[in-house]
Amino acid sequence: MSSNENHPEKSPHILVLGMGGTIAGLASNPTDKPMQYEAGQVEVAALLAHIQSAIPEGVELVAKQVANINSRNLTEPLMSLLGETVREALANAMVIGVVVTHGTDTIEETGVFLQLTCGKYAQNLGKRVILTGAMLPANAPKADGPSNLLDAIRWASTPIDNCPGGIYAVMDGRGCLAMDLAKRHGSALNAPIQSSPSSSVGLINPSWLSGVKAVLDLWTEDLPIPKEAEWPWVEILTSHAGARPETVTHWLSSKVKGLVLAGSGMGGFHDAWKDALVAAVKHGIALVRTTRTGAGETQQDMPEKDIAGCLASGSLSAPRARIALQLSLNAEKLAQAAGKSLTWQDFFARIAVLPVIR
Ligand code: SIN
Repeated sequence: MSSNENHPEKSPHILVLGMGGTIAGLASNPTDKPMQYEAGQVEVAALLAHIQSAIPEGVELVAKQVANINSRNLTEPLMSLLGETVREALANAMVIGVVVTHGTDTIEETGVFLQLTCGKYAQNLGKRVILTGAMLPANAPKADGPSNLLDAIRWASTPIDNCPGGIYAVMDGRGCLAMDLAKRHGSALNAPIQSSPSSSVGLINPSWLSGVKAVLDLWTEDLPIPKEAEWPWVEILTSHAGARPETVTHWLSSKVKGLVLAGSGMGGFHDAWKDALVAAVKHGIALVRTTRTGAGETQQDMPEKDIAGCLASGSLSAPRARIALQLSLNAEKLAQAAGKSLTWQDFFARIAVLPVIR
């Protein structure tokens, strides 16, 4: 129990930020199969009250509700708010670690966003930010939220030798770098983490930790968090059998600033798009190529020579590449306003080279 029970925020504590999701969801009839429920119903303070008796001795918690939504409705202004809240928390000497409860549908986007905007800051300060969520609502008979939340609190609060500060995630007893999250299953309890090459059981596996450190050391500088209304408009287009040029030309008369091409196989796209994509580059639209397969790297000039200016996404999936491109376009705008001649490609290339941990 707290020595400063009424003001835990004045003592060293873990800040638990609530964003909503299934972890805060409620089912109308929890024994129904399939279960109907609504995400983002329970306040994060109530989620913590539910696990109170299992909180490790001496760990103080402070809850803060940032949002309470179904994460499929996540907005860019909300991401800015979360990013600013995390940076503020990291700067607070009383905060020893941060936990974020989040819906799993778009936790992939938030994971890479926090890594690219707060990862270096967390690493320099030696503090961990742990994302978690759940696949079953809070009142389901075998709800997975309480154990995920407890794991996240333990990981955020336990001093672990050699485990650098940074942005991580935990679900179903496994952890990974948050930038490797990828929900590739609609219902499995480990859905956001199961296909992450960097996932580990516990944070204490030495070979995993050395891989983590090598990746984090490559990330040398955080990108600015876009102001609420300044997120550049970027869309994802999927190449498929029967693709039409109109899928691309449609955007030429819009204010879109970038397109992420989720190509087939190694990230190739239908020939029907070629001329339209060349026209898009001439219109000043940024192009990034990735693969719709869900795994594997997309390399420059593979399977064919790239259109000038189009970058390959490396190991970034389409949702992650979209966030990376938005942050790169925003960084380009700020750099050029400050008289620097850096382009979005300079910023994006630094992100796309980050390797995955095997
Ligand atoms: C959501 O993403 O908010 C709903 C789904 C989930 O959390 O698993």
